[in-house]
Amino acid sequence: MAVSEKLNALQVMQDAPVIPVIVLHDVAHAVPLARALVAGGVRMLEVTLRTPQALACMEAIARQVPEAVLGAGTVRSPAEALAAHSAGARFAVSPGYTSRVGQACRDLDLPLLPGVATGSEIMMAMEDGFTQLKFFPALQAGGLAMLKAWSGPFGEIRFCPTGGITLQNAADFLALPNVVCVGGSWLVPADAMAQGDWARITRLASETAVLKMPAAAR
Ligand code: 3PG
Repeated sequence: MAVSEKLNALQVMQDAPVIPVIVLHDVAHAVPLARALVAGGVRMLEVTLRTPQALACMEAIARQVPEAVLGAGTVRSPAEALAAHSAGARFAVSPGYTSRVGQACRDLDLPLLPGVATGSEIMMAMEDGFTQLKFFPALQAGGLAMLKAWSGPFGEIRFCPTGGITLQNAADFLALPNVVCVGGSWLVPADAMAQGDWARITRLASETAVLKMPAAAR
């Protein structure tokens, strides 16, 4: 897929085994961080809307790192979806799901990975036409066993488990037939960013290449 193409949620999930969950406190970190991740082979970037600097960071990445595909995380309202879209986000990830957020993203033509943690939430997202979902918080909400249980009644749903995933346990999640990719913050440690240790971040991103793309992504 060329980075300039219009995306859908499945393509966002299929690009690499891991979507990094990024928390930026300093606009000066945004561009070197994005370049470091891309250099390590990871180009789908979820910048969370958790800090006052997040939107400015997203604008900087959208403008200066065209080889990355910028996404917005922690999208909890239609207003946040609009702000993220205006800042250059090309996909959105939410920690939970509401129909209003789903509709806002549809109206903006912004692919959304809605967050779910229960069967009822999966059914609400399905009612609104979403079948690629983020399982959050994955480890805390039941981990591998929960995903295996869901593969029965929700066999057509594809998940991106996020929350508690590491390089060590990622392969177990990616081995499940209903998992396409995982999300995690371990690629972007706060201390590496504070120290400007971009080489370490490139190394952490490169290490994820050992994780095979799961059958569900092919
Ligand atoms: C989050 O939204 O904070 C993500 O789920 C990241 O979780 P992690 O820090 O456990 O990877």
